[in-house]
Order: sequence, then C-alpha cells, then structure tokens
Amino acid sequence: MKFFLDTAHIEEVKELIETGLVDGITTNPSLIAASGRDFKKVIAEMCELVAGPVSAEVAALDHPTMLKEGRHLAKIAPNVAVKVPLTLDGLKTCRVLSDEGIMVNVTLCFSAGQALLAAKAGATFISPFIGRLDDIGHDGMQLIEEICLIYNNYPDIETEILAASIRNPLHVIAAAQAGAHVATIPPKVVHQLLKHPLTDNGIATFVKDWEKTGQKIINKK
Ligand code: G3P
Repeated sequence: MKFFLDTAHIEEVKELIETGLVDGITTNPSLIAASGRDFKKVIAEMCELVAGPVSAEVAALDHPTMLKEGRHLAKIAPNVAVKVPLTLDGLKTCRVLSDEGIMVNVTLCFSAGQALLAAKAGATFISPFIGRLDDIGHDGMQLIEEICLIYNNYPDIETEILAASIRNPLHVIAAAQAGAHVATIPPKVVHQLLKHPLTDNGIATFVKDWEKTGQKIINKK
C-alpha cells in the first residue's frame, strides 16, 4: 500500500520524509488555506521533496476553466496530480487531462457509482472520503470495499483507489485489508500508527537492563 501524506504543511512532510514512508502528497483548498501560504510555492516545494504524485486541486467548477487551471497546475512539476471534484465537469476535465498524459485525482467521492464513473473517465486516482461518511453515520470503509470489489472485476481499470479523509490508524489498517492501493494520511495519524505503549515499555526495560551490563556497543578509543 502506498502512503501519501494529507497535508500542505511542508514541515510535516520534511519530518517524515527520512523514513522513506512518503510515496506522495495530497492537498486540497482547505489544506492550502490552513498552510497560510501561496499555493504554487507549497506545491512546488512538495514536488521537490517527494518523487511521487503531489495532488493540487483546481478551484473552478466549470469544465473550460477547470481545464485551464489543471493544465496550469500540471506545469508546476511533472509529478503534479491534478485534483478535480466528482462532477460532470470534473469528469470531462479528467478525460481531457488524462488523455494529455496528466495524472488526475478525482476527489470528493462518496459512492461506488461515482468511483465507476471516475475510472471510465480515465482517473489516475479515485479519492473516496471515509471519514466524512463516518461523520454522518454511514460506513466509510464499506465504500472502499465496494470500490475494490468493482475495480477488481475489471483488470483494464487502472485507476488506483486512494483512501482519503482518514481519521485514525484503524482507517489505514482497514483500507489496507480491503485492498486500497493508497492511503492519504494526516501526519498526526502516521505518528499514531507508529506509537504503541508496549514498544515504549519494552525500550525502557532494554535500556535499564543494558545499563546493568556496563557494556557499550562501540567503545570510545
Ligand atoms: O485531502 C482529501 C481528504 O483526505 C480530506 O479529508 O475529511 O480530512 O477534510 P478531510
């Protein structure tokens, strides 16, 4: 499973990049707003930091303007994936950009039917929003499972399922169990995935017992 970071804060990416865990990044207008920075600078810096896809979302809602914006975003760097919403105009734009060889991440997906349309429109990625479905009492993970089932029926579908709107480590684990290709994870959740009290306790015990040996792995000359 590929791990993308769901953030527009460059420092959060820099902190995790050395782990080798960061296969890509997703941003959206809300994340860009939260960064308080110029979107072009943020996307350009992100594209420098990671070799994988960096999603940058269009702002327009009409196809002609989305297309202009998408082509403009794609010029920032070769690893830009243009994000378009799951609307008729978004699918039209997806089709054209995809045919031009530009990666497209179709976002704000909340049904299997929408995901099927996005695949037919040539989407590189489909972003089903797990957390926002959970937030209104629907089962977000069921959507991931449904899309995995449908896509797996058709080997010619190359669209990757990018589990999004992730709220906690269980979403990541369940999305992996379902077979999603990618999870875009808030940095906070990456740190939550990492932590376990028994690991911390084990380290403390090992340190204490090692000190008792009086030995050093490397003796200072
Ligand atoms: O960036 C796309 C998606 O992961 C955002 O989800 O619900 O946390 O705003 P959310």
